[in-house]
Amino acid sequence: MDRDVSRVLITREQIAQRVRTLGAEISTVYADSSRGLTILPVLSGAIIFLADLIRELPLKMKIAVVHLSSYRGTATDPGEMRVIHGVSGDIRDRDVLIVDDILDTGNTLRRVHGLVRGAGPASMRTAVLLRKPSKAPADLAVDFVGFDVEDQFVVGYGLDYDDHYRNYPDIAVLRPELLK
Ligand code: IMP
Ligand code: MG
Repeated sequence: MDRDVSRVLITREQIAQRVRTLGAEISTVYADSSRGLTILPVLSGAIIFLADLIRELPLKMKIAVVHLSSYRGTATDPGEMRVIHGVSGDIRDRDVLIVDDILDTGNTLRRVHGLVRGAGPASMRTAVLLRKPSKAPADLAVDFVGFDVEDQFVVGYGLDYDDHYRNYPDIAVLRPELLK
């Protein structure tokens, strides 16, 4: 995979450091929650971030999942949105923390927010590892952001290009000639 990468944007050490501080921020917010916390990763991009983040949260929690696809394939622009699997488990009256890899156009999170609201949670917050501030819509609230990044296509640490590179440990930019 190394040879497909033109530049590492955020190293695994920087990610680990930020996930620790994010975990501390999030733990403070939910420290007094008596309603029950459910972490809701958006599959598939959130899987690595999820695994690291929840181990920085010394809180009693359940995990539910929701699976959406923006059908990018080899395109780096968003395509048709599909709900592959709605919210698993019962989140009614629970404190729900949505976890996603990246906030780009916001189409995915807007859809997830709608699905979650429809299920009647006690509260809803969102954590994203990355945000592209130049594209993210101002009216879409996210509560916790790992890093703001420039508007370019990135892979690694859960983020894919045509379903590859999710296991790349750093967040990186692919060589431009690989993007179709
Ligand atoms: P949005 O719906 O445009 O906000 O995009 C959200 C989803 O698109 C993310 O959950 C990712 O799966 C994917 N995505 C957006 N930008 C990137 C990127 O730079 N690299 C890889 N996937 C991305
Ligand atoms: Mg994705």
